[in-house]
Amino acid sequence: MASLIERYRDRLPVTVDTPVVSLGEGSTPLLPAPRISRRLGVDLYLKWEGANPTGSFKDRGMTVAISKALERRAGTVVCASTGNTAASAAAYAARAGIVAVVLQPEGAVSSGKLAQARALGARILEVRGSFDEALSAARVLADRGTHVLVNSLNPDRLEGQKTAAFEIVEELGSTLDVLALPYGGGGNVTAYAHGFAESGAQPRLVAGEAAERGTTVASAIRIGTPAHAATAAEALASSGGTAVRLADEAILDAWRELAREEGVFCEPSSAAGLAALGTVELERGSVVVCVVTGHGLKDPDTAARLSPEPVAVDPEPDAIAEASR
Ligand code: F0G
Repeated sequence: MASLIERYRDRLPVTVDTPVVSLGEGSTPLLPAPRISRRLGVDLYLKWEGANPTGSFKDRGMTVAISKALERRAGTVVCASTGNTAASAAAYAARAGIVAVVLQPEGAVSSGKLAQARALGARILEVRGSFDEALSAARVLADRGTHVLVNSLNPDRLEGQKTAAFEIVEELGSTLDVLALPYGGGGNVTAYAHGFAESGAQPRLVAGEAAERGTTVASAIRIGTPAHAATAAEALASSGGTAVRLADEAILDAWRELAREEGVFCEPSSAAGLAALGTVELERGSVVVCVVTGHGLKDPDTAARLSPEPVAVDPEPDAIAEASR
């Protein structure tokens, strides 16, 4: 499969001179979800973004942001991150041969993401503060010109991320009625809105955010103040959609349902779109896509904490037969 930049070159801010830094991102599966479809009375598909190279949708934006940074001869990129942006920046920077500095709120990044960024050779700084404070510091460094910011405030990131909307429209055409997704900083809501606008599709956008933004179990979207609040609100309103505030229990119920009913193991934040769908009115038989943003292996500790314990047995057929009932 072609890299994301090759596939959508004519709709991205690249030229023949842009060095393409790719790990084979994009072209992710659009999976039918028959059991959840039946429960909701709609035709539901899951856009499985955990299938990207570093396990989250961030790779779509990062391939463009790092390719452009390399074209501009940047030596160092910086991001503040709850973990996925960091892992993605670390991977694409390693591929490009440039330094990634990642600012992570101390103690608030799940173990899979932290291990990933470490293994990929990023310079990881654990900030004694929140994601919002780390992002403010990263923006100052970018303004000083010493670092290129690869958070979604970098427009190249959103350009890359809009390609997920292109892929969905290519597969479903104009039949798409509703698109649901998680809402952290609002960059992805904004990117999908751009992507749909460019492809002439007008689905209603439904975004799920944590009611308790600062403390939610969904650590990827533990963001106090969304950087893209204004554009996200505008995108949601003009699509006829809305942002839904979700209790952690609702997010975790959706997370369990994706895993146990459809076989899709995502991280908790990635289930916020499905949780949001459960709270809005859906026309019977409408075509709905739920974006599942990141892989479950990103947050193995939460998965282990919330799932049944394995049962110990001796290696004896009778004991195993008994225990497997
Ligand atoms: N889902 C996942 C798995 C995420 O990692 C994020 C954001 C979101 C949803 C929300 O997307 O911010 O565009 O509204 N993660 C960022 C990070 C904050 O640092 O990895 P958004």
